[in-house]
Amino acid sequence: MRKKVSIVGAGNVGATAAHWIASKELADVVLVDVVEGVPQGKALDLLEAMPIEKRDVQVTGTNDYAATANSDVVVITAGIARKPGMSRDDLLNTNFKIMSDVVSKVVAQSPESILIVVSNPLDAMAQTAFKQAGFNRERVIGMAGVLDSARFRAFIAEELKVSVENVTAFVLGGHGDTMVPLPRYSTVAGIPITELIKPERLEQLVQRTRDGGAEIVKYLKTGSAYYAPSAATVEMVEAILKDKKKILPCAAYLEGEYGISGYYIGVPCKLGAAGLEQIIEIKLTPEEDAALKKSAAAVKELCAVIGV
Ligand code: NAI
Ligand code: 2OP
Repeated sequence: MRKKVSIVGAGNVGATAAHWIASKELADVVLVDVVEGVPQGKALDLLEAMPIEKRDVQVTGTNDYAATANSDVVVITAGIARKPGMSRDDLLNTNFKIMSDVVSKVVAQSPESILIVVSNPLDAMAQTAFKQAGFNRERVIGMAGVLDSARFRAFIAEELKVSVENVTAFVLGGHGDTMVPLPRYSTVAGIPITELIKPERLEQLVQRTRDGGAEIVKYLKTGSAYYAPSAATVEMVEAILKDKKKILPCAAYLEGEYGISGYYIGVPCKLGAAGLEQIIEIKLTPEEDAALKKSAAAVKELCAVIGV
């Protein structure tokens, strides 16, 4: 039997994630949204592409959570996205209400599923989903680090004119202005980038990574990025469905790791069939550790506002 992935929020990120999942033939997909007609129309359109793409997957669109029953993975992108001048945190209160409502409906239909939270502000929304679902932390994971790291990798590859395949990079911390790109753990064919890019230039790439979301919002004007965010989400979905044991930077609920307890923050995670299978603790310099703690403090502040 094929795996089943439901995606709540059939907007830019959700629909594009459905596209990547179907085109990789990873699972049947159910797209859910509050707006009538949109998930149905997008799902049917995608389904009709399958003969051309030679992919045997079912794609369904609905406003009714019954169709999501017994999903293996549920991706939550429901909410409002950033407009120019808005920070991710401006989305807090609206998306908190949406997330709480969506998670209660998802969990009622798929009590064994693994949730991947995408809606912003990411770390606070992951915390909301975790508290609302009542799942263990292995089954509620936030997507941000894969995206932020991909942006950093793209900028490094462009700078050094090398294949993106040669570039690995790690961005930890919260998905916000306090995110923590780690040049020391970023490499090109195994060579630390600190050996290849001068410190001042590297700092510019780090800053561009921090501003990566805003750079796209500025161009698009009416919404935020979705190709890279959905590809990042689907990398996590694939690691889980295929039990790949892949190490990816994800937002995870920390219970003492990195000296942080009770909050979601981006750290290196091993993803497999059980969801979050391990949090990898790497040694940080005092500066990196301070930056991670600062980022955690920003997440804590947001969580306090919504009481999660
Ligand atoms: P979008 O506006 O294109 O799509 C959001 C969809 O959610 C809309 O179709 C809307 O009708 C739906 N929705 C709203 N309330 C709902 C509810 N109660 N139940 C079901 N569906 C509901 O936005 P986009 O670009 O797809 O972004 C979605 C979210 O993901 C935003 O919060 C955005 O900030 C966030 N995001 C997070 C990223 C990350 O790295 N974690 C990266 C990119 C976006
Ligand atoms: C991004 O980083 C808006 O969080 C979204 O593109």
